[in-house]
Amino acid sequence: MIKNVCANSKGLVGEIVVPPDKSISHRAVMFASLANGVSRIDNFSSAQDPLSTVKIFQHLGVDIEFKDKNTLLIHSNGTLTKPNHNLDCGNSGTTMRLTAGILAGQNFNSVLIGDASLSKRPMKRIVEPLSLMGAEIVSENYCAPLKIFGKNLHSINYTSKIASAQVKSSVILAGLSAEGVTNYVEPYLSRNHSELLLKYMGADISVNECSVSVKKSQLEPKEISVCGDISSAAYFIVAALIVPNSNIILKNVGLNPTRCGIIEVVKQMGGQIEILDKKTVSGEIVGDIRVKYSDLKSCNISGDIIPRLIDEIPVIAVLATQAEGETIIKDAKDLRNKESDRISTVVCELRKLGADIDELEDGFVIRGKSKLRGSVAVETYNDHRLAMSLFVAGLVCEKEIAINNFEWVNISFPEFCILMNSLI
Ligand code: S3P
Repeated sequence: MIKNVCANSKGLVGEIVVPPDKSISHRAVMFASLANGVSRIDNFSSAQDPLSTVKIFQHLGVDIEFKDKNTLLIHSNGTLTKPNHNLDCGNSGTTMRLTAGILAGQNFNSVLIGDASLSKRPMKRIVEPLSLMGAEIVSENYCAPLKIFGKNLHSINYTSKIASAQVKSSVILAGLSAEGVTNYVEPYLSRNHSELLLKYMGADISVNECSVSVKKSQLEPKEISVCGDISSAAYFIVAALIVPNSNIILKNVGLNPTRCGIIEVVKQMGGQIEILDKKTVSGEIVGDIRVKYSDLKSCNISGDIIPRLIDEIPVIAVLATQAEGETIIKDAKDLRNKESDRISTVVCELRKLGADIDELEDGFVIRGKSKLRGSVAVETYNDHRLAMSLFVAGLVCEKEIAINNFEWVNISFPEFCILMNSLI
């Protein structure tokens, strides 16, 4: 599907409820499947990635009932059963890496497969620590398909070289079925939704800054209300900041500090952003965000903030094209391992629009403020976050742009165009 986007001079105005958080939705389904009893998940994300997780746990014998498209009842006796075919993770790295941690300690064998993009993404980062726990995972070049031979696992003390919530969560989940205390240390704090939700569901888990310890635990069923996704809110935050006359409110956004790097960056760039009403729901901080069109200045983004905004970097690159001065983004080499190589794809497509952007091995240098030209077709590389970032760039281009294969937006945000249209 080709999506045409043109400049919007009237500004984005109004109020929207952002869609449910994808990371938390995956975890809610997985953890409720491991609990003994009935869990209810409200405001579940109906995007393609979380639905891949639902299908997998159904194939693992869990009774997952949709009351409506965003409300699930999960009936489980806390055990999984051998699937009778391969488990398809689709495009979802979170599904594959976290589920591998769960399956490694089961008393049956299973195979995780994914689409073309996921089958190229690195799995060594989970195969290595899980193998140290006694797991047997067979793959070619550490890529999917992953053949998992269920084993009795034992605990490890593991220090990861990368700050990845997917790796951390995979080891923690394996630790839930392992003998002994599993300790995991990461260089910087990555998103901590697994730790918060596991604690909420009764796991024996403790956290001290960048280290987590977990013991064998039986999870308790719970009511889980999923908050709005700050990674989806990010496209509206940036659009409102760069399109003149904008003034919007984003309701019910998850404000977990391990995800809020974009808010810190916007403030540093001089953006007008305000948190209106904070509360805690199912262990997560939630609030409303007001954003207005702003005069922006460049900033440097590197080090421990990177995991707190890793998925927002493509749209932050768009933001930087509209900020005065040179923005440097570093220490983000793992962007090359996402749904596309987000360093080279962002540079290539934003240059087509006239952005002044250079590629670094681990990030970008972006000089603003640029007039983006448009009158060109851009590619999404089958990457949902690139598709939405290019849409936002299109709102400030002088002429219309055409975004090819825009349907990849459905991986995380099927309602994207409806919500955008309600504001512009
Ligand atoms: C995610 C963690 C991040 C993020 C991904 C979702 C998660 O990946 O990029 O979109 O839900 O745990 P890494 O852990 O590989 O950085």
